[in-house]
Amino acid sequence: MPLGRQPCGRERIESSTSITDARVQRWLTLTSNHDTALYRHSRHVGELTAVFAATLGYSPYDRRRLVQAALLHDIGKTYISLRLLTKPEGLSAKEVQEMRLHPEIGYTALVTEGGHDKHMLEVVRHHHERLNGSGYPGGLGGRSCQMPCGWSLYVTSTPR
Ligand SMILES: [Fe+2]
Repeated sequence: MPLGRQPCGRERIESSTSITDARVQRWLTLTSNHDTALYRHSRHVGELTAVFAATLGYSPYDRRRLVQAALLHDIGKTYISLRLLTKPEGLSAKEVQEMRLHPEIGYTALVTEGGHDKHMLEVVRHHHERLNGSGYPGGLGGRSCQMPCGWSLYVTSTPR
């Protein structure tokens, strides 16, 4: 890389080595095969997170965990039907309930796979929590929500 040139998000995400982790790559391939828009969203969040973590001076270990969490935060949506994921009109109450299962589904899939960092798993599980307790799946708020909610404010750019 030329002197004076800062790495872009894609370079940072790949230099974080998360993208080269075989398990992460497999999940991203599954995501891409299910819904290309979901895949692009996951990559964009991962790239932004890589820049964010590097800018804040996080250690390589923490950058890796954060980028992995960003890349995998929505993998539960690979278990949601494409019809529902891409439905252009508003969702019914029942469909919203189904969509809101995706953090727990993704968390369970990763726990079942095994070998993932516990903090990364908590971000996947709680990325739709809100500091005021209005999020899901746990309705966490305040101190019990500091890490996952702080993350959710950053990584979540879709309302569902
Ligand atoms: Fe999500």
